This record gives sequence, C-alpha cells and structure tokens, in this order.
Amino acid sequence: MGFSIHHCSWVRYRVRRTFPCFHPRQRYIFPSLAVLCVMGFVAMSLLDMEGPIDLNSRSQIPEDNSVVTILLWSHPFGRYSKFGDCLEHYQIRGCRITDDRRAYGEADAVIVHHRDIITGTALPQELRPAAQKWIWMNYESPTHSPGLELFEGIFNLTLTYRRGSDIFLPYGFLIPNTLRSGIPYNSDQYLRTPAPHELIRPRLLAWVVSNWSESHARVVFYKQLQRFLRVDVYGRAGQAFFGDVVDLVRDYQFYLALENSQHTDYITEKLWSSIEAGAIPVVLGPSRENYERLLPPEAFIHVDDFATVRELAQYLLMLRRRPDLLMSHLSWRGGYRTHRPTFWTEHYCKACEVVRRTRGRTNVVKDLAHWFKS
Ligand SMILES: *[C@@H]1O[C@H](CO)[C@@H](O)[C@H](O)[C@H]1NC(C)=O
Ligand SMILES: *[C@@H]1O[C@H](CO)[C@@H](O)[C@H](O)[C@H]1NC(C)=O
Repeated sequence: MGFSIHHCSWVRYRVRRTFPCFHPRQRYIFPSLAVLCVMGFVAMSLLDMEGPIDLNSRSQIPEDNSVVTILLWSHPFGRYSKFGDCLEHYQIRGCRITDDRRAYGEADAVIVHHRDIITGTALPQELRPAAQKWIWMNYESPTHSPGLELFEGIFNLTLTYRRGSDIFLPYGFLIPNTLRSGIPYNSDQYLRTPAPHELIRPRLLAWVVSNWSESHARVVFYKQLQRFLRVDVYGRAGQAFFGDVVDLVRDYQFYLALENSQHTDYITEKLWSSIEAGAIPVVLGPSRENYERLLPPEAFIHVDDFATVRELAQYLLMLRRRPDLLMSHLSWRGGYRTHRPTFWTEHYCKACEVVRRTRGRTNVVKDLAHWFKS
C-alpha cells in the first residue's frame, strides 16, 4: 500500500537520524565494552595467546563526540527564540548553537534564514573558512520566497520542509505507536479513534485564516463552498478567538486546511492542528499523492477528490448522516501520535547532527531555485 511505504519512510528517516545506532542510553554500554575488550586483549597478550581482534566491530570505531558549532546568522523574521538543549530534547550530542557573530571564524556551519537575507540582512562578509558550511533555511513556499536565483552556488546545505533537503524536517509527521525505539517528545500528541457516541460533533466546519488574499486559490474555494454549507471563519479575517487553534477545532467535524499556495511538500501546521483536534481535514495544497506520504489515504478529504465544490459539500453533509462512513475517516487514528517539530530549536539541532555527519565533505547547492520550485 502506497501509504505505508511512504509513511514509514518518514518514520525511518526520523529514527535513523535521531538514533543512528542504538538507543541513547545504551551508548554508555559501548565505551564500557571497549574498555573490557582492551583489558581482555592486554590480558591475552600477557599470556601470549592469540586474541580475536575485529577491526570492524563498533567498539573499535571511536564515536565522534567533538563539538559542532552552529552559528545562527539571524533569528528568523527578526524574532528572537531561545535555543533548547539538543542532547536533552533530541538526544543529539555535542552541539554548540550560538547567535554570537564573533563565533564566525570557528563555526562549522552558519544557518541563514532566507526571508531575512531578502529583507536586508547581509550575508557574512568575511572569507568563509574552508570547512565551513552555509545552510540555507526556509519554511515559506516558493510563492513567498522571492530572490531564489540570487543564491545559486552560495550555500552548502539546505534545511527545509521539502523532501530532498540535506536537513529535512517537515511541519509535522505521524509516528506509529508500534515504534518503540523513539522517546516521545513532550509536544507529541497521541491520537485516538473516537467512541461511537463521540463521532458526531456539535459544529460542522471551521476555517482559521490570517492572510486573506483574493489572489489565493483558498479564498476562491471558500467563496464557492460557503454557498452550500456553513463555514465558521476565525482569525484575522474572521471571528476573533482566544487560545489554541486545536482547542477551537475540537468542536468541529471538519476543518479547512487550506495552504496559501500549492507546492510540493508544502503542507503546514494547519493540517496537523486539524488532525490533533480530531476534525477531518479538508485539504487544498499539493496533490493527494503528496498528502499520502504523510497520512493514510482516508485520513483527509482532498478538494481534488470531487469534480465540483458542490459535490464536496454534499459529501461532507452526507457523512454526518452516515456514522459508519464518518468512522472510516477516523478509525486509523488509534495507532499513531503526531510530532510537530519545535520552531526553531529542533531545526538547529538537526542541522548540527547533519553537519557532524557530513564533516570533511564538500557540498554545494547549485540549483537552489529550480530544485525548490520543482
Ligand atoms: C499574504 O498573501 C500575499 C499574497 O500572496 C503575500 O504577498 C503576502 O506576503 C502574505 N502575507 C503574509 C504575512 O504572509
Ligand atoms: C561551500 O560552498 C562554497 C561556495 O560554493 C564552496 O566554495 C565551498 O567549497 C563549500 N564548502 C564546503 C565545506 O562544502
């Protein structure tokens, strides 16, 4: 099934990156084993016996525990955010993350946030140390990322929501409960299949929108949809609400998870708010196949599933009269939790991990604009 293959590749991705060899607590075992091996070898040499030496065994390869220094060139959008501890939160060792530009000369990598260099922050002017990597970080879609062409051949690694990034971290993903190796993050949400009496929710359909623009496909879609059913609109372009979007949406059967622009892998927190709130997302963004890399096929309703907006509206209304069909969109939930990476600490820690792994290698991002827009 397409879903499980693609979906599990997310999971595998995360597990491999976070726990490259084994559970972090077990790491301490290996140095101890190494010591025992060496002692055994010494003892056997003393006895003039031949001891087995396996040069490929893990205990012979020293783990790279050296410090990786990551310089954040500017806080994204000029908004300061605190650096969390990579070891404590993500089991990634040896990361020194700083925003002190005096560390430039010794930094293993410099993270540059795209929007900031477009709006006036200059790139580092000093000569780039030979081994230093510049990381291009961007979480906006191509539509809202002007000037990509200006930066061809300048960066060494990419850090974005898009698959194929050197440091790849989407806005969110599912982790199956069967996966025991990962430590749940504090912010992970365990999903639950609703009990039959919880299936029908008091309200029909919500949409939270801050940037209302007539040029957005989502506004065109909304205007058609609201002719056929009631949509409660919140946010800067609708009713004010207080608190968390997830709490707001818990009363709703469906949620409009409409992206501001339609691009490969550009699937944002809107989807994950809906999933965590237990509202079935109606999505407008990249293709259905693209969403199926993140979710089971029945977990969302794609606007492309219907020939007309009217048919989509009829389907939503019909579902409320057919609890069995409603359940078919929700029964997958029992086996998963969501993980939404924390902006921006998790991104910096992942960068640290990849910078360590690619040390000594040369990387140049040559086709930034073409790749990111494709
Ligand atoms: C809102 O949308 C318009 C049109 O796409 C865009 O130019 C603008 O940058 C967006 N504003 C924000 C705050 O994202
Ligand atoms: C980083 O990119 C620059 C510019 O293309 C290149 O000259 C340099 O060799 C690269 N460095 C590394 C360590 O990849």
